[in-house]
Formats: sequence, structure tokens, C-alpha cells
Amino acid sequence: MKPKVRKSIFTYSAVLFLFGCSGNKLTNKPMIETEKKSISAKVENLLTKMTIEEKVGQMNQYNGFWDVTGPVPEDDTSQLKLEHLKKGWVGSMLNVRGTENVRGVQKVAVEESRLGIPLIIGFDVIHGYKTLSPIPLAEAASWDLKAIEKSARTAAIEASAEGINWTFAPMVDISRDARWGRVMEGAGEDPYLGSKIATARVNGFQGDDLSKPNTIIACAKHFAAYGFSEAGKEYNTVDIGKSTLYNIVLPPFKAAAEANVKTFMNSFNELNGVPVTGSSFLQREILKGKWNFDGFVVSDWASINELIFWGHAKDKKEAAKIAATAGSDMDMEGNVYIKELAQLVKDGIVKEEILDDAVRRILTVKHELGLFDDPYKYCDAENEKEQIGNQTHHDAVLDMAKKSIVLLKNDGNLLPLKKENQKIALIGPLANDKNSPLGSWRIASDDNTAVSVYEGMKKYKGNSLSFEKGIDLIEGNVAFTQEVKINTTLNTSEINKAIAIAKNADVVVMVLGEHGFQSGEGRSRTEIGLPGLQQQLLEKVYEVNKNIVLVLNNGRPLAIEWADKNIPAIVEGWQLGTQTGHAIAEVLYGDYNPSGKLPMTFPRNVGQVPIYYNYKSTGRPNKEPHVFWSHYIDTENSPLYPFGHGLSYSTFKYDNFTIHGKNFSANDTIKVTVDITNTGDYDGKEVAQLYIRDLFASVTRPVKELKGFELVPLKSGETKTIEFKLSKNELGFYNNNGDFIIESGDFEVFVGGSSNTIFKSKLTVI
Ligand code: NOJ
Repeated sequence: MKPKVRKSIFTYSAVLFLFGCSGNKLTNKPMIETEKKSISAKVENLLTKMTIEEKVGQMNQYNGFWDVTGPVPEDDTSQLKLEHLKKGWVGSMLNVRGTENVRGVQKVAVEESRLGIPLIIGFDVIHGYKTLSPIPLAEAASWDLKAIEKSARTAAIEASAEGINWTFAPMVDISRDARWGRVMEGAGEDPYLGSKIATARVNGFQGDDLSKPNTIIACAKHFAAYGFSEAGKEYNTVDIGKSTLYNIVLPPFKAAAEANVKTFMNSFNELNGVPVTGSSFLQREILKGKWNFDGFVVSDWASINELIFWGHAKDKKEAAKIAATAGSDMDMEGNVYIKELAQLVKDGIVKEEILDDAVRRILTVKHELGLFDDPYKYCDAENEKEQIGNQTHHDAVLDMAKKSIVLLKNDGNLLPLKKENQKIALIGPLANDKNSPLGSWRIASDDNTAVSVYEGMKKYKGNSLSFEKGIDLIEGNVAFTQEVKINTTLNTSEINKAIAIAKNADVVVMVLGEHGFQSGEGRSRTEIGLPGLQQQLLEKVYEVNKNIVLVLNNGRPLAIEWADKNIPAIVEGWQLGTQTGHAIAEVLYGDYNPSGKLPMTFPRNVGQVPIYYNYKSTGRPNKEPHVFWSHYIDTENSPLYPFGHGLSYSTFKYDNFTIHGKNFSANDTIKVTVDITNTGDYDGKEVAQLYIRDLFASVTRPVKELKGFELVPLKSGETKTIEFKLSKNELGFYNNNGDFIIESGDFEVFVGGSSNTIFKSKLTVI
């Protein structure tokens, strides 16, 4: 199978099937028990009327072929798909978008099939839709849950206006491995922060009432442990212990389930020998059992077929049996259920109850979305025109972009830049790039639509600004499904032009990092420094002018030890979406005081990976005069920038750290307070972070665990008292049976502006 893009028969179906949209029935109220009962009665009634094939049909999801986000089968299946739609053998489609197109496929499902069951329309609305927000990892750096929720809400409003009612987001995979390309799509390395962000994103997409035409169902993915792919290699084996699974991997999924997320997606990886698409342990025992999840599980793209390649199922028949039995309710573009499942039921190999359970879940969600009342509720062409690219969405993504920026270093207060009478040289292959800042999940957006840093900086007219790219980062153009080709040919005249403007400048701003398609799905890296010729460019410019502000654009933590040692100011600018350049310029010029903090550790070099703040002590943690302690002989143990790190143009002081009481019972809620003062000249915001260490436990605990944080706005000179609460939820942990327990003993509690804080106190649970 080879990735390629095809046109679908449905691209013109909208024209063939065009007809008026019925009105939206809005209820604006959360679902109450009687509504639930009435939905359940309708679902049961419908189930009695369905043939086995129609039930299997609801478990079948087809790709619409407009935007392909996975490998496309060689044979042209469009005609077959249309026939299946007419027979009611399709429960959902993905990658169909635009009100006309959605109306086209929906019309076939609703008006031409025997039972007229509407489709759910899925799409990867990952960080915005047409108007793009920062990549999810960048948003996580804001630690601003309200802003993150709003970003998901904005994305839902735009996507739903194009007919979409299901997003394959949020990705809640925790990862400690910067080599893995998909770290850009998650919330970083920490399960506590990851859980809070999972909840915020689910709430943002799903809103307060799913029956509204601008709320969409969310999908917690990829269940589970995809972020622990060995060696950071995409789609690889995962072999992790129970303690990591229960304490690190699963909590954000549980948080999403508790936030009432309607769907889960399983993943491409195996976990401890069982491909997760076929894992009853994860899907039946934990998700649908212990957590009582009542939505449905979709496979990842053709991951049911992949049970064969893993060597777990001998053929499609067995793959279908294993996946359905294990609780994978819907087959994404795999064609396995639709081909095999009905016969398996007729042969008595798969119980019909398994189908009933899956279909019940899927139909319930369709009811909750209001699709049975009005299948065309997301097909309002007027609303589509109004919402797509609406200025309020641009304002929202700009706000989110500013909040996502992290000031990594600012020696001598080189930043913010003076606004007048300065000669600024802007250099770098990403400085005037309008494409790369869109990131890799931007299939509904148009290429080259980001505001570049150059464009953003041009708005500040008091300085003279010159620009040279110096080098090219990639060769030619690259698309979503293609490999990036990094340029390795130095063009002397280009680099000389860059050096010339640098020589003459008061300050040099260099925009370097990764191309937008160097991170994301299928984009693992073994070297995580500045790719291509960029390090060379940086060092050459440094030879002529040391007053450099390095702005990074990237989708993962980078190893930039040389830059950290030599460059006075470093700004983590990620890939910030459509409004990238404006956001970065406002931060560089001090119109916005940065407050982001890293959601993922930055290593000194790739050999330290996986590196994370919540590591275990080891039996030999302390530096010794001999070599026999836990360390490397060629680099330090500490990272380059720790989790939670991020500076401001202001400074913050922590005082009066008080744990109110000393000895507590397991059921107590413990009050912890601290005073924070803005001791600098700028108004700003500080992310106050609280960590604990359970000093002795039956299952060893990390040296620090984030258990609270608050984003605190503080005017220059202002002091605020911040209160944290610790209860069993924060002090307990999962043992190796998966039970949540709290053990008596001593705990250290730390407060500060980063995970390397040493400001601590003690409490005891008796
Ligand atoms: C594969 C990816 O792993 C998943 O995250 C995505 O939602 C699907 N493709 C659909 O595009």
C-alpha cells in the first residue's frame, strides 16, 4: 500500500444531491435522565430491526478520499463505498468536509438506505481547523486551561460549520521521548498536566450540549501507550511495566473518560506483546469495565488489519474476531469488519451480543449528537460562510499563540527589543516561512497562510529591519504524506548576504528549528539538534555578531546545547499556527510578556532521551568520588531545560510557604499556601507549580510529581497568596494491581516556578 491522494466520487455528489437544509433543533440543555432513557429505548427499538449486515455496517468507517491521512488501498473502492452507503453498511465517514459534500454522503445514508441511519462525520481537528491554533504541545506550554478549552471550542465551531461532528482529538498520549514525532500532538510528559489538559480539550470540543450544531464529539487517543514506542520510532513496539502504565500512561485517558468524552481511539502499537487494537485488557477490562466508559472505540486507521502484520492474527477473519471481541467498536478504513464480521457471527465465532454492544454505543452517540432529529444540522451553508476564517477565530488563535511562547533564556535582558532606532537583522530559513508554522496537522487549512515572523516584525516600524534567509532548510516542497528532504547544499552567496546584514545590526533575530513536516505522524528523528545547515548558519552569524535572539520553531524538544551556551536570548516559538508571526513579534517587542513553561524536558543531547523530571531515584543517586553512581561519563544528568521551565520579562519571588498542619489522615484535605511577588518592572503571569515526593512507598515513587499549578497574573510589585489543596487523589498512586492506594509516611512538598525548584516543606500521612 502506497500513500497517495485520490479524488472521490463524493466530490461531486454534493451537486448531484443538493437539496435544502432542514432547521436546527436546539435544546441548549445538558442531557437528563429521562432523555437518556428515551434515547436508550429508541436505540433498542432500532436494534431489533437491524440485520446482522446493518449492524456490522454501523461498525464500519470509510475514508472520503478528499484528504488522505493514511495509506490508501490500491483498488478504487469509491463505487463500492457508495453501494455500501446505500445499503446502510457505513456508520461513519472521515475526511469528508464542506457542507455540500457532507450533505451529499448524509443524504445517501439517510434517504437511500433501508433504515436511514445518519452518519457521523469525523476529521482530524487537532489544533484548529481552517484557522490554526498552535500545535497541541505548544498550547500545553501555556498551562492555561481556560485558553486551551477555548482553543478547542473555536476549532469545534469552525469544523462543525463545514459539516464535521467528530474530531479525532485530543491526543492524550504521554511521551518522554523527543525523538517521537507525535509529541507535537500531545500535552507533553506529565500525567497530571496531561489530565487537566485532556479535560479542558474534551470540554472545549464537546461543549455543554452535544445537540448544538457547533459542538462535536471528541476522541481520546491513542489508547494506549503509543507515546512509549521503543526508541521513539513511529508505530513501534511498546514494552513498559505496570507502574508506568497505571501511573503515567492511563491517567489522562481516565480524565478524558471522566469528562464524558464520547469516543476513544486505539493505537498502532502493541503493549507488552499484545497489539492494543486487540487488547481486551485495555478496552474491555479497563476502559469499558473499571472506568465504565459508555461511548465507543474506533480503531486507528486500518489498525485491525495490522494485527496480521504484528503476527497476532493469521488473516483478516481472525483480525476481525480478535478486534471485535476485544472491544474495538468501529473499523477505520480497514475494510475488515465489513468483509468478515457478519459471516463470523453467522458461523457462531463472534457472538451477536458483541455487535449489539458496539452498535448500541454508536447509535447512542448519534442520538446524543441530535443526528436522528436532523441529520443535516451541520450542513448550513450560510453558517459555513460566516464561520470559516472568521476574524474572531483569528483573534482567538493569536491569543493562544502568545500564551504558548516560552522564554528559555534572556541573558542581560536582551529582550524585549527596543522599539526605536535599532538596526535589526532577521535571519534564518524559517523567518519568512508562511507554511512551516502551520505544523503538520493542517489538512483543512491552506498552505502558506501563516503570518511569518518577518511579516509580524514589519509591523514595528520604529526600527530598520532587514531579512536574509541564509540557507534553505528543505529541498523543494513537501506535502502531508511525504518525507521531508533536508537541504545540505550551502549556497555561499546566500549565507554571505546573511552575514553581511548581521555584521551591521544592533541585534540579530534568528528563526531556526524544524520544518512543520518534521514532526507529527510518521516523523521520528534520531538527531534532535537543529536540522540541516542551521547550526552552521548560527555559528557563522555568531562569529560576526553575538547579540543574537534565537527564535525556535519546532514540534518537539530540541537538543541545542551550543546555542544555550553561546546565544544570549532564546525564545521557544514552536509552530504557532496561522498567527505565528504576530505572536512572536509581540513577545520580542515586549507587547506581550511571555509566561509559557515547558511541558516537556529539553535534553542536552539525544543520548539522554528518554529524559523527564519525574524519574525514579535509583539506588545510587548521589555523586561519588568514584564512578559507581548513576550517571553518564560524558554529560551531566540534568537536562538542558527542565519541565516547567520558562522565564518572564519580570521576576517572581516565592515566600511564606506554609503547609497548614503537619500530620494528616488519608482522608484529609491539606491546605498549602505560598506568597508570590512580582519583583520585576513588568506586569506578568507566573505558573506556580506544586510538586510532591512520597519518600518511601511499596512501589517506588518519582523524585517529584506535579500535583497542582496555577497561572497567576501579577502586576509589577504585586503579591498574591496562592492556595493549593492536597488530598488522597494527589498523595496516592496506583500499585501494580492497578489499585489506587495511599500509604502512610512522609512526603516532601515543593513549590516554585519550575520542576527544579528546591523550595520545600514536609508533611506526614499517618
Ligand atoms: C492515523 C492517526 O494515528 C490518527 O491519530 C488519526 O486520527 C487517523 N490516522 C485519522 O486520520
